[in-house]
Amino acid sequence: MSEKIKMILDCDPGHDDAVALMVAGSSPKLELLGVTVVAGNQTIDNTVRNALHLVEYLGLDVPVYAGCPLPMVRERKIADDIHGESGLDGPVFPPLQRKAETEHAVNYLVRTLMESEGDIVVVTTGPMTNLAMALRMEPRIAQKIRRIVLMGGSVGYGNVTPAAEFNIWADGEAAQVCFTCGAPVTMVGLDVTRKVLCYPHIVERMGAVGNRAGKLFAELMGHFCRTEKEVFGFDGGPLHDPVTVASLIDPELLTLQDMNVQIEIRAQQSYGRTNCDSFDYLHLPHTAQVAVDIDVERFWDIIEDALRRYDA
Ligand code: RIB
Ligand code: CA
Repeated sequence: MSEKIKMILDCDPGHDDAVALMVAGSSPKLELLGVTVVAGNQTIDNTVRNALHLVEYLGLDVPVYAGCPLPMVRERKIADDIHGESGLDGPVFPPLQRKAETEHAVNYLVRTLMESEGDIVVVTTGPMTNLAMALRMEPRIAQKIRRIVLMGGSVGYGNVTPAAEFNIWADGEAAQVCFTCGAPVTMVGLDVTRKVLCYPHIVERMGAVGNRAGKLFAELMGHFCRTEKEVFGFDGGPLHDPVTVASLIDPELLTLQDMNVQIEIRAQQSYGRTNCDSFDYLHLPHTAQVAVDIDVERFWDIIEDALRRYDA
């Protein structure tokens, strides 16, 4: 069997981050080295606590590192309209035993990447603050990152303003640092994540897996799908974050197009927009592989397979 892909998951759990973690934590094709946490969907205290509940509940022996509580420049914004007061409203977890590591997430990223053979994929499913701060602290890690695979941005519309997607909008400067650092970038944006809508029959399918992971999935989606319906009118919540991890498990999952992507960080109305030159108007260097389509059926098969790998 080919080598496992080494990865670090940088996230802001967050209901869909939780599913990304469930997939990363059980795949025989992936080696999840660590989970770094950032403020985003909720405050850092909430997102760290949520990450610890998740690794404890799932029985994952993976270290969790607390990261940046604030964006690099702008004020903090959270997405409690979708993810609730805790950031993971819905499931009720047993009293927390697990503790976060004492090392800061940014220091962990710098140390781990510098010590590596350059074979680690960094998956970000929240604002890119931790990775950007690591790149600022030690720019040489850019040559040590195998690939940055981010959930964020869109060729088309946004989801937090007409122009911008939440993870980029929450810290546009961080995204700018990451997109221009020189490491290979794969951008998994709303154009594909809004195609994997978690309809009721999907929730039933995953709940019927019948183990702790299936139960957690159903409880998470109970809240997430309700708020996505309230806010966007979707009949199924778009399961954004796990698309990143799923694309590592099956490289054929996404249709990718090389594009020049520029982050808007000066405008008022369009701050946080990913300007993706899909027609190559500007003939500028291509700076990212952008996901433009997804095999939806295959995606749900990957999710179900990931849940089945957890014990009762
Ligand atoms: O725009 C969707 C992204 O914002 C997802 O990562 C979701 O968890 C929120 O962080
Ligand atoms: Ca997220």
